[in-house]
Amino acid sequence: MTLEIIDLSVNVDSKPVLRDINLRVEKGKLTVIMGPNGSGKTSLAYTIMGHPNYKVVKGKIFLEGEDITNKTPDERANKGLFLVFQNPIEIPGINLLSLLTAVLNKKKGKTDLTEPILDLRKKLVVEARMIGLKEELLERDLNVGFSGGEKKRSELLQVKILRPKYVIMDEPDSGLDVDGVRIVADVIREMLSTGASIILITHYPRVLQYIDPHKVVILYKGRIVAKGGKELVEKIDREGYKWLGD
Ligand SMILES: Nc1ncnc2c1ncn2[C@@H]1O[C@H](COP(=O)(O)OP(=O)(O)O)[C@@H](O)[C@H]1O
Ligand SMILES: [Mg+2]
Repeated sequence: MTLEIIDLSVNVDSKPVLRDINLRVEKGKLTVIMGPNGSGKTSLAYTIMGHPNYKVVKGKIFLEGEDITNKTPDERANKGLFLVFQNPIEIPGINLLSLLTAVLNKKKGKTDLTEPILDLRKKLVVEARMIGLKEELLERDLNVGFSGGEKKRSELLQVKILRPKYVIMDEPDSGLDVDGVRIVADVIREMLSTGASIILITHYPRVLQYIDPHKVVILYKGRIVAKGGKELVEKIDREGYKWLGD
């Protein structure tokens, strides 16, 4: 039960953004992807989710043994993949309650996606409180006028409610205060304990003070240039990314 990326190269507008990526994400484990700005971390996240602008020119992506390289984002989501966006977009006309109601109804095969779900609101209030998200934001247009920290928390709330099997988190900790970073670590720990696999993309070793990664990979200029364990995080904490050279 894994997500496996084999020999993957990806272009955007004919420009290479990822090259020869090999990565195996074990079930129930935390895989961390680090790397400087522009190294291809978000491109990798989008490619795994099937974003149409990210063209796979070589290689394959397997989810639990099935080749998903050409599947639509919707099909991938149905198989349990979920992306926590680095920069969540504003979506007027939808709020957290209506969005989660729709997704949960769709999962159950309902045709009316607006059908209220018993106790969902109550559950959202409880979970929102745990991650420090104001209750009023449950019914405000999605991400509209949310602060940076509120947007991040809104994404975490979706993870907690939907409980996807494979969660890719693209810098969930950026722009968060100490309490926020600890909440990210709590959500990761909680998801791992339920058997979910997590790919955490992060710039900062901060969040890893609270949680041990199974595997750490460093992306640089679209390639994986180092693989290891926690010692890589410590090296980056001490030395930054300069040692990667050119
Ligand atoms: N949609 C896009 N259009 C044009 N260039 C892109 C696009 N997505 C990524 N790139 C380029 O690919 C490189 C990697 O970007 P990105 O994956 O966002 O890096 P990171 O998330 O590590 O900061 C950058 O040079 C970026 O400009
Ligand atoms: Mg990024």
